[in-house]
Amino acid sequence: MNQSASSVSLNNATKMPILGYGTWQATDAELEAAVEAALEAGYRHIDTAYVYENEKVIGKVLKKWISSGKVKREDLFIVTKLPPGGMRPEGVSKFIKRSLAHLQLDYVDLYLIHVPFAFKDIEGDLHPMTSDGKINLDLKTDHIGIWKAMEEQLDAGLTKAIGLSNFNISQITRVLNNARIPPCNLQVELHAYHQQKELVDFCKKNKIVVTAYSPLGNPGLASFLDRFGKKVELPNILKNPVVNEIAKKYNKEPAQILLKHIIQRGVVAIPKSTNPQRLRQNIDIFDFSLDDSDLSKLNALDAGVRLLDFDVFSGVKEHPEYPFPELK
Ligand code: A2P
Repeated sequence: MNQSASSVSLNNATKMPILGYGTWQATDAELEAAVEAALEAGYRHIDTAYVYENEKVIGKVLKKWISSGKVKREDLFIVTKLPPGGMRPEGVSKFIKRSLAHLQLDYVDLYLIHVPFAFKDIEGDLHPMTSDGKINLDLKTDHIGIWKAMEEQLDAGLTKAIGLSNFNISQITRVLNNARIPPCNLQVELHAYHQQKELVDFCKKNKIVVTAYSPLGNPGLASFLDRFGKKVELPNILKNPVVNEIAKKYNKEPAQILLKHIIQRGVVAIPKSTNPQRLRQNIDIFDFSLDDSDLSKLNALDAGVRLLDFDVFSGVKEHPEYPFPELK
């Protein structure tokens, strides 16, 4: 696939492939072969995070591909994120350097603040707990100070671009009003049942490209949360009859329809799959367009259903920067 024909321009004059490879919930054992398969399939944008604990295996594959000349570093778009335990100005340089070492890279293409809330920085414990079983929050979170430290990483050449993830409109506005270098990207949950129309409009007005995580509605999420003792019933968008009817019409799979719907809005999507057939399917969406009537049908599926509220971290809603006040 020619990814240069399917990129969005960022406000720092670089380009970001509109379809990326998501790696959250992928374990090392399956990921090495999957990242190889993703690069073979044409993915050049890979999304990871310090807290996914899979940067090293991704770095191993990238090193192999770059050093053998199969891919040029400048043709890749690598995204990683500051962990909640690094949410203080001095944490930014500490954690971006660790991520770069894991990824075996000199720079990333985009570095994001992963979440607006903060945990205590306890070495070796990404999700520290208090004795009463709650997540160990750091309540003194200073987004402006952290953003200045993000800008310094860009000045130092450790990242080409900086952005935010899981921030709400008022939190983004505060950063925008105090930034020397404005954020160029916002990564949030976005799928057919949670289309984030107000947030996407706000970002367009402010020249912030939006990236959709869980673009397929994360059908593996319930079993993932179950591992943390949280039992939830979640809707499966891939089984939605409207999506399936449209898929039949275009002779495509439901996942391809959901992804196309997102990228036709100018929103970047980062579906995760460790299955070679499905990951190839997810990037094979550049040979058709949804027509206006199908776009309208898909737009009408929006139900404001948020799958991820971070409540898996018990007590997180007590943080002053918890981003979803309506869920408190
Ligand atoms: P798998 O890795 O076994 O393919 P999201 O990106 O919305 O978080 O969704 C990821 C989940 O969706 C994973 O459980 C992944 O499983 C599954 N998935 C990814 N691509 C497809 C596809 N094309 N069809 C069906 N399920 C998919």
